[in-house]
Amino acid sequence: MSEPHSIRNFCIIAHIDHGKSTLADRFLELTGTVDKRQMKEQFLDKMDLERERGITIKLAPVRMKYSIGDDEYELNLIDTPGHVDFSYEVSRSLAAVEGAILLVDAAQGIQAQTIANLTLAIAQGLVIVPAVNKIDLPNLAVEETVRSVAQLIGCPDEDVLRVSGKTGLGVDALLKEVVRRVPPPKGSEGAPLAALIFDSQYDTYRGVVAYVRVMEGEVRTGDAIALMGTGIETDVLETGSLSPEFAPAPGLRQGEIGYIVTGLKEVRQCRVGDTVTSSARKAATQLPGYREVRPYVFAGLFAKDGEAADLRDAIEKLQLNDASLTYVPQRSTALGFGFRCGFLGLLHLEIVVERLRREYSLEIIATVPNVEYRVVTSRASVLAAELAPLRRGSNSPRSELPRASHLRQESETGYLTAEQLHAMGAIEVKMPQEFPDPSRIERVFEPWAHLTVITPSLYIGNLIQFMQGQRGIAGTTEYLADGKAVLHYDLPLSSIIVNFYDNLKGASQGYASMDYELAGFKEADIIKLDILIAELLAPELSILIERTEAPRRARSMVELLKELIPRQMFTVKIQAAVGAKIIASETLSAMRKDVTAKLSGGDVTRRRKLLEKQKKGKKRMAQFGSVEIPADAYRKLLQRT
Ligand code: GTP
Repeated sequence: MSEPHSIRNFCIIAHIDHGKSTLADRFLELTGTVDKRQMKEQFLDKMDLERERGITIKLAPVRMKYSIGDDEYELNLIDTPGHVDFSYEVSRSLAAVEGAILLVDAAQGIQAQTIANLTLAIAQGLVIVPAVNKIDLPNLAVEETVRSVAQLIGCPDEDVLRVSGKTGLGVDALLKEVVRRVPPPKGSEGAPLAALIFDSQYDTYRGVVAYVRVMEGEVRTGDAIALMGTGIETDVLETGSLSPEFAPAPGLRQGEIGYIVTGLKEVRQCRVGDTVTSSARKAATQLPGYREVRPYVFAGLFAKDGEAADLRDAIEKLQLNDASLTYVPQRSTALGFGFRCGFLGLLHLEIVVERLRREYSLEIIATVPNVEYRVVTSRASVLAAELAPLRRGSNSPRSELPRASHLRQESETGYLTAEQLHAMGAIEVKMPQEFPDPSRIERVFEPWAHLTVITPSLYIGNLIQFMQGQRGIAGTTEYLADGKAVLHYDLPLSSIIVNFYDNLKGASQGYASMDYELAGFKEADIIKLDILIAELLAPELSILIERTEAPRRARSMVELLKELIPRQMFTVKIQAAVGAKIIASETLSAMRKDVTAKLSGGDVTRRRKLLEKQKKGKKRMAQFGSVEIPADAYRKLLQRT
């Protein structure tokens, strides 16, 4: 265990791909933490998925020994992800450290996540060590980037370090500056134990392993501990650090970062953000945890028949490792057993599905993602709906597209918060099936986001045009020292989750970067678009959409379905409807030939084989009444709508 004054806890923050993991590799090498022969690129990106995609998804704490002259230091580094969907992971690592290296790619300069992460770090009171990376690249205007970083932080140019994570140039000097500028951890050692859980993993043999930052006191193997949030008590099976593999140690003292093997078998008992204290001598107050994450994007995840229990188990374990994932069970006639899950963005959804496939061997079908709406239904409307059958004939609201009541003033001037909407009695609608009948709806609110886009000035025109097409409302524009523009826009969150990032890149030849945060809710004219296959409602395909966008989306959905549904023995009507009104329709004509006709009548074995094959195939179908859609086609449909 090290003395607190020789400990430095820090993380690296940067925009995606600016070189955090590569720089961390050099740190591991330089400090002799990982032998050069064992070194592989982006060592801390342990998941296969991270390595393949070249992105960091999980934060990974690692301890290194580093000497300056006769002084030996314990450096605890937390590598963090840069993509906007994983900012929750970033905010967690920031709470466990005293300093942050702000890394900026010399070629790309300041990007949206550079600013977003820097803002988070400053709010957390961290010491910032700015560094411009990739200076080995030829023909770079390194000094220009240095100037804009210095301007952003408000420091002299000389305070910005110049490094190459690739060649190692300047890396030793950077580490020395981290030791010099980042303060050692504060806290009192004699105080009762208070350790913040900033991450956790599930180990089949040892139960839940919590990653902690000890704020006060110390914890040793064999100690009886209590989790202040959940009230659970247990004995510490092992403590230690990650170097970068598990390295057991007798204990962890104030200021250190490491792990505690809790032996807990229930993943829910050990929450990220909770405080670990001593059972015998409890801390007076719990440490401030993390802001509760609110997922923005929702989708249903469904497993194949017979894998329901496996899916539940996998999602529970994944959730422990990924605190931003939320889930509630859901049943679907077409897709079987599943969960309605909440995500921080589309990439997050994609990564979760991919992890379920790889780490748990589950074949998953995900439904079309949507945002969360708030709906105010009125008692009066409920009563009216109940009375409607009695008055049948006098008016028939279902015979035409239900019209929204006039949009009211307050939503045009500002946003409403979730709390305000709750006070108004609004209900949360996280999936189209929860959307109340139009006759009961008084007002609908949809989430909006503040979006920041950083782009070379050349593409401003293209981007403005693109943003306007997405119902965007322009805010201010600022210019950076290197000639880039920072555009501020407000947009409906639903626009951002559908192909937005790809289109933004398209409009700027790949140069623009973006970041967004939830602004609040605004009143909107949202309706439910239903899909009928062979005249039966397919609830899994329903979507919630702004009224003016419905006709275009309805057309593209029925056309796509016609393309994807295999021909059946009978004619299949594919229709899109709003309420009782059909707004788009296609017909899939019947198969002309009977495929089994080719088989000679007496060949029993072949016929049986064919039936067997059909049976196997069945498991991978989504069933809509008498029509089956192969799982693969279903996936394509979701990707392209
Ligand atoms: P995320 O974790 O996904 O946010 O990315 P990251 O910031 O960890 O970036 P990573 O280390 O994965 O590097 C991104 C790319 O930049 C990789 O292709 C690296 O090989 C390259 N790269 C990183 N540092 C340097 C450098 O100093 N010079 C050059 N030329 N390339 C670099």
